[in-house]
Amino acid sequence: MFIILHLTGRLVWCPFAGFIICLYCFLTRTHGYWAERGVPGPRPLPLFGTYLGQFFYSFHVSEEERLKKFGHVYGIYEGTKPGLIVGDPVLLKDIMVQHSATFYNRRSVKTTHPVMSNFLSSLEDKPWKRVRGLVRKTFKPRELKSVHHLLQDSCLALIASLDHAAATGSDIDLKNLFGAYTMEVISRSCFATVPDEEFVRNASSLFTFPFWRKFCDYTMPKWFLDSWLVQFTVLPKAGMDFFRNITTRLIADRLAEPQNRRNDFLQLLMEAKHEGDGLSEDEILSQSVLFYSVGYETSSQLLTYCIYCLALNPDLQDRLRKDLIRILTEANISCDADIPYDVLDQSDYLSAVIAETLRLYNPVLRMERKAVESYILHDQTGKEILVEKDMVVGIPVWALHHSDEFYPDPERFDPERFLGEDEDGWKKRARSKFANVDPVPFLPFGIGPRNCIGTRFAIMETKMALMIILRDYRLMKTAGTKVPLKFFPTGRPLLGCDKVLVGVRKLKTN
Ligand code: HEM
Repeated sequence: MFIILHLTGRLVWCPFAGFIICLYCFLTRTHGYWAERGVPGPRPLPLFGTYLGQFFYSFHVSEEERLKKFGHVYGIYEGTKPGLIVGDPVLLKDIMVQHSATFYNRRSVKTTHPVMSNFLSSLEDKPWKRVRGLVRKTFKPRELKSVHHLLQDSCLALIASLDHAAATGSDIDLKNLFGAYTMEVISRSCFATVPDEEFVRNASSLFTFPFWRKFCDYTMPKWFLDSWLVQFTVLPKAGMDFFRNITTRLIADRLAEPQNRRNDFLQLLMEAKHEGDGLSEDEILSQSVLFYSVGYETSSQLLTYCIYCLALNPDLQDRLRKDLIRILTEANISCDADIPYDVLDQSDYLSAVIAETLRLYNPVLRMERKAVESYILHDQTGKEILVEKDMVVGIPVWALHHSDEFYPDPERFDPERFLGEDEDGWKKRARSKFANVDPVPFLPFGIGPRNCIGTRFAIMETKMALMIILRDYRLMKTAGTKVPLKFFPTGRPLLGCDKVLVGVRKLKTN
């Protein structure tokens, strides 16, 4: 009896153990890639590669720790796929600017959905170049001037919320305040709509997708996710279909009746032409949804952290307010009058405050490029590192912005970093144009041909809100203000934070 049981047990366990060993070997088959090439990096785990910690532990903290521990260039694994993280300013210039022709793609986004597969951010090669060329026209200064009035209208709700908080003496949650503002700005500019409950619900579904979606996107093979059975999309299909219906109706209305034409992004996208070529209806819809999903949360975060920093630094807030009031007085703009487009760019100090906020709390923690062909990088020691075709190169922006190698006392909010000149004559103000790699990396919007196409719009939207707020209100630290802020893991390279509370006082009565 004992012998039979023993044999049966062996019969069961041997294949099982064999299966586990084979699976382990399969899932770790590439995990020696970087060690064989002498490139340091975190230790990979089967199935997860080096990603597990970043999904469950704060992404930005782990990026900072890794840059300190492994240096400017280190290897990672997404599941079994090797990837490279590059934080060396000279190599970044090489990748993002000088050899951008080799690195203009990002990772392939797996989807069969017609909206998502046309996103400018995920298009590759010639289709990306074509759509980028057309969409770029939408963000030229003249075009932005024509949509500027939408910002002014969107500020009304912002002012009402601040008035309410000031009158009741209650703290205001900056995340809610600016979330509502930036959602209204983008809804008005892309969908000619003031957001109602249904709109907000569908829009929110585009940014709050569960982590397993992103996890599948990073680790599973493309053929599997694209298959008829799975038809995987990182963004939820219902939300995208909702926006598709709105846009199709708006485009049809505007084409049918010329008087339905409006000054907004949708119109600019409909009219963008290059050598007779224009965007198709699906392409217009894709870019509108994309502007929504990439423009809403990032811009709202920028405003939130900017006001938070000013509330914690009353002297800097006073200095900025003084400068803004001087500019508004010189331009003859009375107390509650609209703020014209041309005035928005006149304060160097305002630009410096925004730049320093973007350094300290840059919303996009890491950027990516993918090699269209093999390319050899030479690190500082002269060592050659081969970036194979289709390998993803990550740029650890948060870690670079928080490194004392580039920014002394990096946790201090100090807009002076972006004013005047360095001892060697290098213009710091150049950084406040929101893109620099060498000698000091400052990359809140990326750099090179694949940078953020909405930079000017985001800055315009931010400056408009800040000018209106600082002209009339004082923001203060209260017992409810958390110092320092606590960030939580979002499962994606975007900063995530709970409520950000500050107090508000109205400076004058109109
Ligand atoms: C503070 C606000 C914003 C920040 C910090 C931000 C940051 C970024 C970053 C870091 C990238 C990647 C750049 C690269 O890979 O080099 C990006 C790409 C992009 N951003 Fe923004 N963004 C902001 C607002 C906006 C807005 C308001 C829009 C549109 C209305 C927008 C549209 C885009 C698009 C379409 C891309 C992809 C461009 C391409 O692949 O060709 N962004 N953004």
